[in-house]
Amino acid sequence: MFTKFSTFVIKPHHLINKNNNKKSLDLKLISNNKIISNLLMSRCFGISSIQHQIHKFPFISQASLALTQERQRKDKIDILKVSRIHLQRYSEVSKPIQKIPKIYTAESKVKVDWQDNQTSKFHNLWLRDHCKCSKCYHQITKQRLLDTFSIPEDIKPLSISPGSSGVEIIWSGNDEHKSFFNWNWLRRHSYDPKFINSQQILNNKKTLWNAAKIKDNLPIVQYHKVMQNKEDLAIWLKNIDEFGFCFIDNVPPKVKETEELAKRICFIRESHYGKFWDFTANMEHGDTAYSTLALKAHTDNTYFTDPSGLQMFHLIEFEGEGGESLLADGFWMANQLKTKYPKAYQTLSTIPIPSHSAGDSNVLIQPTPFAYPIFNHDSLTNTLYQIRYNNDDRSTMSHLSPNQIPEFYDALRKWNELLSNKENEFWFQLYPGRVLIFDNWRILHGRASFVGHRRLIGAYLNWDDYRSKFKVLNLSNEEILESL
Ligand SMILES: [Fe+2]
Ligand SMILES: [Zn+2]
Repeated sequence: MFTKFSTFVIKPHHLINKNNNKKSLDLKLISNNKIISNLLMSRCFGISSIQHQIHKFPFISQASLALTQERQRKDKIDILKVSRIHLQRYSEVSKPIQKIPKIYTAESKVKVDWQDNQTSKFHNLWLRDHCKCSKCYHQITKQRLLDTFSIPEDIKPLSISPGSSGVEIIWSGNDEHKSFFNWNWLRRHSYDPKFINSQQILNNKKTLWNAAKIKDNLPIVQYHKVMQNKEDLAIWLKNIDEFGFCFIDNVPPKVKETEELAKRICFIRESHYGKFWDFTANMEHGDTAYSTLALKAHTDNTYFTDPSGLQMFHLIEFEGEGGESLLADGFWMANQLKTKYPKAYQTLSTIPIPSHSAGDSNVLIQPTPFAYPIFNHDSLTNTLYQIRYNNDDRSTMSHLSPNQIPEFYDALRKWNELLSNKENEFWFQLYPGRVLIFDNWRILHGRASFVGHRRLIGAYLNWDDYRSKFKVLNLSNEEILESL
């Protein structure tokens, strides 16, 4: 296994695919002459796009590495050296410690020398505040019991006793409080330097896809299995996390069973459309979803402060023609936009777009703050976590400066180009018995127009509650505790 300071060599081989004459780039991540991982990207646009692709290697966190500027040519192979790697995947750092680290105090900090020659520095006050003993931390509720403001600002260790699983520290003060810190916890939560994104507790790899890639690789689970056991429920949620959607087959085409299936993940989210929906093209609500019109690729609820995390559909009655469903991977297309048109990506990541839902006479829903960009990034890791896009629900754009108007329309046109590209569109027909569930923060959905009778039932689920179930089912108690 590689350590933090391994030098990774990335050898991009320019390949000509004889079938379609496309240029592709084969990236291999190599450590100690062993291939650790492979990535194939369809086109090469220079160092920045390679760097972008490198983030797709499963064990490198976002914004974690820099390539040296040097670029040698050797036998027609470009060699790029990775000069810095700040962050690593959780599993790489939380392996049991083989050698007890050296731990000592210096300048109101506790310092830990790890076996890879890295030194973590923790402020005394910070460490004391994070004591996890039963006096300071409720072992069941996992809430702080300690009064942070009772800790003297100049607190310091009186003694430091390292052991195989962690370190015991006795603190200055009248009570000579004793704390114990697990090595893995200290390594994971090191902030100076940071080794990993401590928010990321699962090695959840995302498989980004276009139509060709997903068609022969459909994530499908069986109704009776996910209803009966937790292991299959965990697999179902892993599929949603990895691919952004999943089919559930052999579901009884009935309201009760479909509703129970949704509730297997979490409670159903109520909205102005109701709780569990059951709808036909009867314009019961003032929204085109209740019509027979075609709907272009979009995400739902751009007008909510907190858009629904998951959406479930079950087509239980259909006598007519058309109405095929469309899914497109928003993260895949966002990556394409970033590579092809970085400026447009930047524009759509920063210009906020106001939206509304106002079709029902008694409803005027708008988010707070009043507008969000299409691409929303985690402020800590700069990772794209949410796409909000529904061009039909966009309100008047009067908040932009004059020179932002052409910039916005140009960027939006480029985004629309990707959305309308057949290669990105996965079309399929739903039918009674096959339920679709998808991540409304990542996947765009749409449908073809139709004639006839079409009865669709389904539900919205909250993002936080879906993620909670996903983590609880896929993490051990120890892992959960270590992550907090
Ligand atoms: Fe929709
Ligand atoms: Zn304590």
